[in-house]
Amino acid sequence: MHHSRIRLADLDQANILEVDVADEVLRQNALSLMADWVTRKPLYCVRRGLAAVICARAKDVSEVLMDDGQRFSVVAPKIEGYEIFDLFGGVESVLQMDGARHSRIRGLMQPAFTPRAVNALLGAIQQIVTDKIDAIERGSGFFDAMGDFCDDIITRVMLDATLQLTPPQQQAFTRVHNSFPLIMGIAPGEAYPEEYVEAGRALHQAVLEIIEEKRRHPREDFISNLVTARDGNDDKLSDEELVNQIYAVCAAAQGATAASLGAALLNLGRHPDQFDSLKRDPALVDSALEECLRYQSSGFLIFPRFATTDTEVGGVAIPKHMPVYVSAQAANFDPEKFPDPLRFDIRRNPQRIFTFGSGAHSCIGMRMARLVMRISLLSLMQRFPRLGLVDLDFEPVYGGNFSELSPLTIPMRTH
Ligand code: HEM
Repeated sequence: MHHSRIRLADLDQANILEVDVADEVLRQNALSLMADWVTRKPLYCVRRGLAAVICARAKDVSEVLMDDGQRFSVVAPKIEGYEIFDLFGGVESVLQMDGARHSRIRGLMQPAFTPRAVNALLGAIQQIVTDKIDAIERGSGFFDAMGDFCDDIITRVMLDATLQLTPPQQQAFTRVHNSFPLIMGIAPGEAYPEEYVEAGRALHQAVLEIIEEKRRHPREDFISNLVTARDGNDDKLSDEELVNQIYAVCAAAQGATAASLGAALLNLGRHPDQFDSLKRDPALVDSALEECLRYQSSGFLIFPRFATTDTEVGGVAIPKHMPVYVSAQAANFDPEKFPDPLRFDIRRNPQRIFTFGSGAHSCIGMRMARLVMRISLLSLMQRFPRLGLVDLDFEPVYGGNFSELSPLTIPMRTH
């Protein structure tokens, strides 16, 4: 391991963000801060004592995400302290691979995410959404939009609709998901808690079982695609690699969709006039959904890149190995692309939002995410024409990783 950490003292002192980027105050005020960051050239910041840089303007965000591998990598260099960038506890995911390795794995996953494959899920998604709404209707008239609706919706779509897992296999995924918070604050080098390790082992076993099942009866889902592509190829993926991809896709999909759907309900709820217009005219749903996704999605920073050489963006020096945080959320507030960006307007119909990233790693699941969110909004509004927030001034507390905007609860009423 190298010991060549970047020293804050060597950077332009006038261009350093005063607070640790993981500060809770920052997360609770993320949207107004993003509207400020987007007016600024790349900004140095600190997280857990490590110097990094944040890119927020649309052109800077695009420059980093569209890099062809010459200047930035998604693979963290082996430097002391950089263990914090190991997102999935040692699992090497498609998000953390570069170049040819990444293209190959992504190519194998692609058939499960084509328009045809995603549209084939429509009936199943509708059923899952209807079941959840039925349960809410049987309740008191008050519900938690996160716990009762958003939290596990995409997991259910992927696990029971796409993969048709048995209940014990589903539980293995839920258990791992529930054990993620156990490793959030863990110090570099510290052992993982037993429950986290055990949950991982149980999931590993469940996924091996699923792979075996798909090998015997391949269907149109991404695991079948990965398995058959592997078996038809001399240069095979190991079972280990298959397990890693399945695990990482589920992790990438679940939190992001729950948070974005929750944020959509929150922001529609905070603008009751616009929510009413949408309820009266559901044809506005596509424009409204894009505006919801632009205005607030799953977090204010996406997974970091690392400079592979001394470089610069927007005139700001970025030394080799420096982590580069990209804010898709800030770029969505770039006034040159989205005038008066903090105005929430379901008729805006924003084009080319940054929410799903861009370039080689852009979200492979965006079509599925949009479909699930669209069906959810339409079905909720249709069943509950008076759907709204219990308290119009409600401010969520956000959970998840430091830059995620994942509301813990959103109290709503059905009438
Ligand atoms: C509204 C919900 C979602 C949002 C806001 C979202 C956002 C993103 C973003 C910004 C990236 C790019 C990350 C980067 O460049 O570092 C990404 C990548 C990814 N997303 Fe999503 N996502 C969502 C839903 C989903 C769903 C439903 C799935 C799968 C079913 C999924 C699977 C993935 C995967 C596998 C990647 C990595 C792609 C790669 O590295 O090539 N996401 N997502």
